[in-house]
Amino acid sequence: MGNGMSTKQQLLIHLKECKGTWISGESLAHRMTISRTAIWKHIRTLREEGYVIESSQKKGYLLRQSSDLLLAHEIQEGLNTSVFGKRDIQYFRHTDSTNNRAKLFASEGAPEGTLVVAEEQTRGRGRRGRTWFSPPGEGIYASIILRPSISPNEAPKLTLMASVAAAETLLSMTSLAINIKWPNDIIINGRKIAGILTEISTEMERIDYVVIGVGINVNTPRKSLPPDIEDTATSVLMETGNLFPRISLLRAYLEWLEIYYTTFMTRGFEPVMKRWKHLAGIIGRQISVDLIDRVRTGEVIDVDKDGFLILREHDGTLERIISGDVTLINT
Ligand code: BTN
Repeated sequence: MGNGMSTKQQLLIHLKECKGTWISGESLAHRMTISRTAIWKHIRTLREEGYVIESSQKKGYLLRQSSDLLLAHEIQEGLNTSVFGKRDIQYFRHTDSTNNRAKLFASEGAPEGTLVVAEEQTRGRGRRGRTWFSPPGEGIYASIILRPSISPNEAPKLTLMASVAAAETLLSMTSLAINIKWPNDIIINGRKIAGILTEISTEMERIDYVVIGVGINVNTPRKSLPPDIEDTATSVLMETGNLFPRISLLRAYLEWLEIYYTTFMTRGFEPVMKRWKHLAGIIGRQISVDLIDRVRTGEVIDVDKDGFLILREHDGTLERIISGDVTLINT
């Protein structure tokens, strides 16, 4: 094939071409012009990566199931984007935080669209200094590098944009009734299923890079949730009762994110904001917002064009709020 693809990847392609049927070691060795022993060694590595491959003395090999690991070549297979995830994908079995990694790559000049993904985070970070529960193989922990030509004070819009993309992902791939809790929590039945952490680096009043991190609880069983989030978190598995292929969710997220990012950059924020408002359904609701040092309660009048929440307090004063924890008050 001579296009830079590793022998192991070529072998995988042959196995995928005849997925569900047997192919002999001899025929693989012949097609790839390597020894049968070499084939066997690569089969062993593929199994270690999570591919379920049967083998039989007589019949050869059969690929039963692809790996559920978020391997770069699996993500890119059938990925319908132009830039996001198309260039560099940095894959980690474990890392501290994909946002940390992505910031490092970005500061070294990694281009827009670079994706960092991990099977497990040892110091997954949430908003407001919280930790993000990131057990191995159960969720999506991914960060993408952007280099938008907008002013730094427009950065909060990117967070809203990413939450729209995450909500669209879950809406289009599952039948779950998803909505967004301002600014960027993805909620189902009052419990959080995904979150976004945006980090930005500026230089002289312009954006150098933005890292958008997404965490989605996919195949997390209820019993593995730590006590501090067991009443507030949920996962696709918990909501549907079924395991879901993480890789197809990640692909869909990259596709939605690219669609909304392109919309934002070419047509402005208005169409993104319109969709956000629809998915959030927050306007007109009574809420309280925890702002770390104080709590405000009142009615949501609007989310303005910059992504700020406009709250009318009971005494009639208007507050413009950039970020906080919202609780809906049932009325
Ligand atoms: C939130 O608090 O809602 C935001 C959670 C964001 C978690 C993701 S997981 C991938 C990326 N790396 C991190 O350390 N955090 C984000």
